[in-house]
Amino acid sequence: MKATVRAHTNIALIKYWGKRDEDLFLPTNSSLSITLDRFYTETMVHYDHRLSEDVFWLNHVQADQKETNKIRSFLNKVRDLTGEVRSARVESVNHVPTASGFASSASGFAALAGAAVKATGMNLSERELSQVARQGSGSACRSIFGGFVEWQKGTEVNGSDSYAVQLLDQKAWDLRVLAIEVSTEVKKVLSREGMKRTVATSPFYQGWLQAAEADLVTAKKAIAQRSFTLLGETLESNALKMHATTLGADPPFMYWQSTTLSVMEAVQDLRDKGLEAYFTIDAGPNVKVICKPEVEQKLINELSRLDVVKDIYSCQIGPGLRYLEG
Ligand code: DP6
Repeated sequence: MKATVRAHTNIALIKYWGKRDEDLFLPTNSSLSITLDRFYTETMVHYDHRLSEDVFWLNHVQADQKETNKIRSFLNKVRDLTGEVRSARVESVNHVPTASGFASSASGFAALAGAAVKATGMNLSERELSQVARQGSGSACRSIFGGFVEWQKGTEVNGSDSYAVQLLDQKAWDLRVLAIEVSTEVKKVLSREGMKRTVATSPFYQGWLQAAEADLVTAKKAIAQRSFTLLGETLESNALKMHATTLGADPPFMYWQSTTLSVMEAVQDLRDKGLEAYFTIDAGPNVKVICKPEVEQKLINELSRLDVVKDIYSCQIGPGLRYLEG
């Protein structure tokens, strides 16, 4: 009847950018991410026959109607799957600084999927759970697993072959991610809306699809060989290509601010000076920098000197979903 789950955020090295089915959250391209230890969501789901409708508390405050409706429509999918008929009380706490630029939707829907299924008494495999989480937010399917994770896009119309698989476990390759905060402004174009507009209107979108497929092959090879340089070059170029598609959209948009560019330039300059690190950016202005552990502190020292940098959060590779005491 009741279950509590912790799930961590993830950062895509090869981006998910575009859907072939909006309702089932089926992507047009496969993606690859690392799960992060530092940021996570803990969610409790309690089905209770005394409740006439679902109730959602976020960070100890009752959520508004809009937020509650999002949770309700996701719980309806879980009820359809499991045969559960009761309404639920959902309590969720995000240990994700909102300004970090890490989407809490990935950890949020992964934790909710885990708890909502478990509380019905049904046991699903991690693969099946990733398919459930996917239907709350695409990137959430990758947060079921720790370490290096691939979301295989699949080709079936019903989504039965679109799920996440673990490529390397949490301890297999120690890399670090620095989340560089340059802005705390709320994003103007949410990722869901941004990818939709890009698929529909950007003439660069076909190019993105071809490039993303090739980048995924290269990134997987780099991971198998533990080749940091190859992985770094591939992930940085993949992020740039994703952002290039938004410039061609109608109306056009961009997630970068001048402060974003300052950090990108600084990372490239430091790299020229021998400090090897690579950047990636999601649907917002903040930058994430990937490096090996031995250069992490030096990099923090250098980047914190930039005027545009407000804060730096340092992360290690994190674990998959974990069931906590109910
Ligand atoms: C740029 O998973 O937030 O972060 O499926 O519509 O909820 P929805 O989108 P979401 O998109 C993430 C986009 C991205 C790239 C990525 O994480 O792969």
